[in-house]
Amino acid sequence: MKTIALFNIKGGVGKTTSAVNLAYLAAQSGLRTTVWDLDPQGCAGFYLGIDDSELQQRASRLIEGKLGSDELRIASSYENLSVVPADLSLRKLDLMLEKQEAGKNFFKALLKPLDEAQDLAIIDCAPALSRSAEQVFNTADILLVPLIPSPLSLRAYEQLREFTAQKKWSDVKIVRFFTQVDRRRKIQNEILETRKKRFPEMLKTYIPYASALEQMGVHRAPVGTFAASSAPALAYSVMWSEVKRLLKNI
Ligand SMILES: Nc1ncnc2c1ncn2[C@@H]1O[C@H](COP(=O)(O)OP(=O)(O)OP(=O)(O)O)[C@@H](O)[C@H]1O
Ligand SMILES: [Mg+2]
Repeated sequence: MKTIALFNIKGGVGKTTSAVNLAYLAAQSGLRTTVWDLDPQGCAGFYLGIDDSELQQRASRLIEGKLGSDELRIASSYENLSVVPADLSLRKLDLMLEKQEAGKNFFKALLKPLDEAQDLAIIDCAPALSRSAEQVFNTADILLVPLIPSPLSLRAYEQLREFTAQKKWSDVKIVRFFTQVDRRRKIQNEILETRKKRFPEMLKTYIPYASALEQMGVHRAPVGTFAASSAPALAYSVMWSEVKRLLKNI
C-alpha cells in the first residue's frame, strides 16, 4: 500500500478538498483507496457522506477494544473508496499513544492492518506541526502540499521546509502544487511563473479557484460526481495522473 498525506501548516488551503477528490479519482481508477482523516474537524468524512450516527456506534466498539484498525474503515457509497473518519482515527491514535506499545512508529503500526486490504491511503492532516504530523512525516511516501500562490502561503511552506530538513525526516518526499489559482491576479501570476522555474519539484497541474469546489460541502460529494466537466474536476483528473506516475516510481 502506498501512502500520500495532504499537509500544510496553513489552514484553509485545500488539503481536505484535494484529499477527497484525489481519493475519489484513485478509487475510480481501480485502486482500493482509503481516506484517513486525521483532522478533528472531520471534514473528509463529511464530504464523502459519512453518517455521524454510524460513527457513534463504531467509536464505542473501538473503546471497548472490539474494533481493529482495518475495521475502522467505513465504506463510502463509491466503489473502492472507504474512509477512516476523524473520530475513529483520533481515538485509536490516542489509545496507541497512551499504551506506547508501538514506540516511535505508532502511526505506521496503525496503518499496517490496512496494508493488505488497500492499495492507497490518503491521509488528510490538520493544519499543525503536531506529534501526529511528525508521525505522518515518518510514514507517508509522498507529502503533498497544496499552496495558494500568495506570499504568506509561501512563507508557511518555507517553515515546513525548515522543519522537515531535520535529519530524521530526510527521507520524506515533499511534492507541492498550487491551488485556488486565479490567473486574473497579477501577484498570483508572478508567483506561479517564477516558482515554476525555481522549484522543479512541483506538480505541473494546478487547481483553479472555482466555486464548484465550495459546492462540495452542499453536495457532500467529490466534484467529479456533480460537475464532471467543470474546470476543477478536469484539473484534479490531470493531477491524479501526475500523482499516479510519481507513485509508480516510489
Ligand atoms: N480551488 C479552490 N477554489 C475555491 N475554493 C476552494 C478551493 N479549494 C478549496 N476551496 C474552499 O476553501 C475552503 C478550505 O478548503 P479545505 O477545507 O480543503 O482546506 P484545508 O486546507 O483542508 O483546511 P483546514 O486547514 O481547515 O483543514 C473550503 O471552503 C473549500 O471549499
Ligand atoms: Mg482540512
